[in-house]
Parts: sequence; structure tokens; C-alpha cells
Amino acid sequence: MRMKQLASVLIFVGAGVCATQASAQFDGLYAPVAPPKSVNLGMVELGKKLYFDPRLSKSGFISCNSCHNLSMGGTDNIRTSIGDKWQQGPINSPTVLNSSLNLAQFWDGRAADLKEQAGGPIANPGEMAFSHTLAIDMLASIPAYVREFKLVFGKDKVDIDQVTDAIAEFEKTLVTPNSRFDQYLLGNKTAMTKDELAGYKLFNESGCVACHNGPNLGGNSFQKMGVVEAYKGNVEGRAAVTGKDADRFNYKVPTLRNVELTYPYFHDGNSDTLGEAVDVMGRLQLGKKFTKAENDQIVAFLKTLTGEQPVFRLPILPPSSDKTPRPTPFN
Ligand code: HEC
Ligand code: HEC
Repeated sequence: MRMKQLASVLIFVGAGVCATQASAQFDGLYAPVAPPKSVNLGMVELGKKLYFDPRLSKSGFISCNSCHNLSMGGTDNIRTSIGDKWQQGPINSPTVLNSSLNLAQFWDGRAADLKEQAGGPIANPGEMAFSHTLAIDMLASIPAYVREFKLVFGKDKVDIDQVTDAIAEFEKTLVTPNSRFDQYLLGNKTAMTKDELAGYKLFNESGCVACHNGPNLGGNSFQKMGVVEAYKGNVEGRAAVTGKDADRFNYKVPTLRNVELTYPYFHDGNSDTLGEAVDVMGRLQLGKKFTKAENDQIVAFLKTLTGEQPVFRLPILPPSSDKTPRPTPFN
């Protein structure tokens, strides 16, 4: 099914394009990012606090924002993340920006949605190294949190379901509309420069669009890393979830939204620059070696995908009470 989809897009890509025309006939394969709609504001405010609260980790030092820093495109900008006790993480931290638009969460898609995802890192020994019970004990010991949970969920007891609901609701607001590419899609044909438009044309006509399409320019399918030429590195990929050999090398296609901010690239973070990532993609996925000028143009296009970053006041977290369990960063 997936290959069929890919093949039909590729046929479309190959269907002769007038060289002087921009890539207008491809515009319909993308869509602008919409601003967040119908969120529960109380839940968002609570989720925002939880997102920034390092007390959800054993060390009292690591929050969601440590690895998905909203000042840095929702990533940590390092090859693989640093977890509890400075552990070297196995994989690159993907951006949380626009992740609500993805068909599933994680590189291998093992979480169906943001709510399911949000429970993972708190209890992951290599990340926040806490447990759901300890997280709830911590929250229940802080009167201001207890009041806020009650206000938002109308229940007497805080539970992990409420925690993950609130975080997921906050994450729904982490979208980045109004990039210059979106302005172009919405009809402002001068929103992109000549070089950027040339890069867009190359992106479409070379076949990048076959996998990077839709509102997130990715995030909507699992595809092989290394279609034409094999990729050197960890290649377990989606097989970790499905157990199928055919899914080795397969990863969720990452979004290219804000890709200018989310370096380094690929699941192992092994490409430091966008130019390098484009070169790898051209050769490994399409059997195409771009010239320096072409590579520069594609990179210029990719930079038009940087949207308006979420802006809000840094949440002020309620202080621990005398009963709050203390962090144990060193044991
Ligand atoms: C120690 C670093 C670290 C911490 C802390 C952390 N994450 Fe992550 N996050 C990662 C890594 C690494 C991945 C990719 C893991 C994988 O795909 O196997 C990831 C994946 C994700 C994804 C999936 C994005 C996508 O497109 O697939 C979301 C959403 C996310 N994290 C949200 C959160 C939230 C919410 C928290 C706090 C509760 C959190 N993370 C805490 C490192 C971290
Ligand atoms: C056959 C599907 C496919 C095609 C075609 C394809 N990509 Fe990708 N792209 C992927 C997958 C899968 C990944 C993730 C690979 C990994 O991390 O191991 C990826 C990753 C990327 C990344 C890194 C994003 C990040 O956050 O790490 C960039 C940049 C990128 N692609 C650009 C392009 C460009 C430019 C083209 C055309 C030259 C292209 N891709 C063609 C499937 C594809």
C-alpha cells in the first residue's frame, strides 16, 4: 500500500514539467499549518507547567523542555539526547513542533498519539527515570497543583491520565503557522525568493515530495531510509514495533517544518548541517547527486518552512511543599 502511494506520487513527479513554470501544480500536495483550534485553555495552562516541570524526573533536573527546548525549535540540537545521570540517549530527539500533525509519535511510530507518547519519557530510565506513581505522589504533595488539576478535570485525585491529557493538550498548541512557504501556498506568490522557488521546484521534480508532503512535509508515512543506496548506522527502525523484517530501515518520515532549527539531522543525528542532510537524501533516497548550486537552492527552500514559533510567558511553577519528595539526582 505504502509503496503504491509512493509510486503514484513518483509518476506524478515524472509527468513532464515546463521548465519556466514554478511548481504550482505541486502546491496541492502540501497544506499550510493551521493555528491551533478548539483547545481547552485550562488544560493547556496546566500542561504547559507540566512540560516545564523538572520535578517529573528523578533528578529534579530534566523536563520535557530539556530535550524539546521551545527556544530551539522544540529539540535539543545535540546528536542524541542526554538522559538521567548524563546517559547517552540512543536516538535523536525529534521536534515537538507540529507533532500533533503526525500519523504517530516516535521515529518508529510506537505511540499512536501525543497522549500515549507523553507517559513514556517520565518513566523511561534513560530519560526522566521516574515512575508514574512517583510523579503522581510529587504532584499530589503540591497544593497549588492539586487545586489546578481539580479545577481542570473536576476530580478529587490526580492521576497519570490527567497528566498526559494536559501535556498533550499543551502540545496541540505547539504549531508554527505562517511560514513564508505557507504564505506562498495561501496565494502570496512573492513570499519566496527566486532561489527559494527554484529549490521548491527541485524538491518537487527530484521526488522529495513523494515522502515529504502534506501539511507537515512528512510525518504521514513510514519509509525506508536508504532506498537507492544503503544507510550506514542503526537500521532497526519500525521493525522494533511490527517485528517484521521488511520494516527494518523504515522510519517515520520526519516533518521538514522548522528544519532550519532542528539540526542535527536523521534518527541518529549524524548530519550536522542541512546541506549535508539534503545531499544524503538526494543520493540515498533518489540516486541523485545535487550540484552545490542545487543543494543551496533546496536548502534555501527548506528555510522558508520556518514558521511562527509558539510564544508565551514562561510558566511559574508552584513551589514544593514540606511533604514533596526531594529529587535524587546522584543515586
Ligand atoms: C532525555 C530527553 C527527553 C526527554 C526528557 C523527553 N523527550 Fe520526548 N523524545 C526524546 C527522544 C530521544 C525522542 C525520540 C525517541 C524515539 O523515537 O524512539 C522523543 C520523542 C518525543 C515525541 C515524538 C515526536 C515525533 O514526531 O515522533 C514527542 C511528542 C515527545 N518526545 C514529547 C515529550 C514530552 C511531552 C516529554 C515530557 C513528558 C518528553 N518528550 C521528554 C527525548 C526526550
Ligand atoms: C523514500 C522517501 C523519502 C524521499 C524520497 C526523501 N526523503 Fe527525506 N527523509 C525520509 C526519511 C525516512 C527520513 C528519516 C531518515 C532517518 O532519520 O534515518 C528523512 C529525513 C530527511 C531530513 C532530515 C530531517 C530531520 O529532522 O532529521 C531532511 C532534511 C530530508 N529528509 C530532506 C529530503 C529532501 C531534500 C529530499 C529530496 C532530495 C528527500 N528528503 C527525499 C524519507 C524520504
